[in-house]
Amino acid sequence: MKRRTLLKAATLGSTILRLSPLAAAGRSSREFQLVAKPGRQQLISDAGPATSIWGYNGTNPGPLLRFKRGDRARITLDNQLAEPTTVHWHGLRVPNAMDGVPGLTQPPVAPGEQFVYEFELRNSGTYWYHPHYRSSEQLGRGLYGAIVVEDDEPPTVDRELLWVLDDWRLTGEGQIQEDFGRMHDASHAGRLGNTATINGRVPELVPVQAGERIRLRLLNAANGWIYGLDFKDHRPVVVALDGHATKPYEPTNGMVVIGPAMRVDVIIDMTGKPGERFEITDRFHPRMTYKLADLDYAPKPLREAVEKPVERLSAPHLKDPDLHGTEVFDISFAGGAMGRMTGALLDGKQLGIRELVGAGKAWAVNGVAANGHAMEPLLRLKHGKTYRLRFVNDTAFYHPIHLHGQPFRILSRNGNAEPNRPWRDTVLTAPRETVEVALVADNPGKWMLHCHIPEHQESGMMAVVEVENA
Ligand code: C2O
Ligand code: CU
Repeated sequence: MKRRTLLKAATLGSTILRLSPLAAAGRSSREFQLVAKPGRQQLISDAGPATSIWGYNGTNPGPLLRFKRGDRARITLDNQLAEPTTVHWHGLRVPNAMDGVPGLTQPPVAPGEQFVYEFELRNSGTYWYHPHYRSSEQLGRGLYGAIVVEDDEPPTVDRELLWVLDDWRLTGEGQIQEDFGRMHDASHAGRLGNTATINGRVPELVPVQAGERIRLRLLNAANGWIYGLDFKDHRPVVVALDGHATKPYEPTNGMVVIGPAMRVDVIIDMTGKPGERFEITDRFHPRMTYKLADLDYAPKPLREAVEKPVERLSAPHLKDPDLHGTEVFDISFAGGAMGRMTGALLDGKQLGIRELVGAGKAWAVNGVAANGHAMEPLLRLKHGKTYRLRFVNDTAFYHPIHLHGQPFRILSRNGNAEPNRPWRDTVLTAPRETVEVALVADNPGKWMLHCHIPEHQESGMMAVVEVENA
């Protein structure tokens, strides 16, 4: 279906879209146009000043790209920024040439130029898209959007919500602080903001109804902020991580943790009473807890109560790693403030920590500080084979470690087996933690492996993993 026909169908009401045989069968081709350009947005309130942002089609978040599994996407990026850019399809198993990494999989798209991305949607779930060129600033100014690939058999819920979370560093006038590239952010926890938004807006009330069952798709688009959402007196049940179904479970202490770039799908029953209000707080950073929004119950209930257990989503369409006799690779992440790294290799030269910092680098992966995106692969994997990777966080900070091209299963943390071995494309590693993952190298090409705090990646915390053609 063409984008234009899709829009026309949408204005006729969603019933028609749902009944469309083409959509029901999947395998249709969907076209989108993403114009990367400056925009103005009421991030804070209608009363306050609008914030100058960069956004896809001028908005934050950019347009939601919704697909069915098996659809083909044809997405034209039109660069109306004053600098180059690219689009990366975070978590999607796209062909390497469509991965959007400048210098590694494609040349950067110059101002005024276009690039057409085409790929098949191979997995259902919640994903997102964002630039991979000067990511700290381009993401920090608001360039990103969500992707939803519908389930083959969606769970029964009353409503589905999508929350794209971000935190912005704003001035007193409500404008983005121009202090990108600060070494202090790079060597500490990344660019942290002072203003939290949901879907590009500081939220206030979230209207709900007693008895409602809601599926909430959560996406953390912040550069460095880690969310730990607490839905006071409600019991969110996690059903998917980074898009992929997991056995439903209630997170420890009811806190839904979402590191940068990560997605968590939860199902929440509205167990409060009509007219009640409940604070949603973010309490991941114990000394920086704050209220994000309020659940605001309507005066009328939808129904008495939901008592059915939460349904499990259909199993991910991914090849399970066969762990017998698998090769293990240690990948060590080092550096940063309060770290013990004394030096690293930069562009083939061994430098001491002071020289590294002088060159804008603060981190290294197995002793190498990355410079740009094109580099010698750290690992060469054989197509179709299973590997174990041990991510060793040898630093004083959290790092959301992301691998492009193929997701992995989390086997253990510090040697303790991870319950249900969830599939993820990004894993949050705690300071000094070792996380072991397994993957089937089934997507040939050169893939980034990096910390998703862009300030960390740009100051050295990335490597390239090559999956070689068999
Ligand atoms: Cu969200 Cu290297 O990507
Ligand atoms: Cu990091």
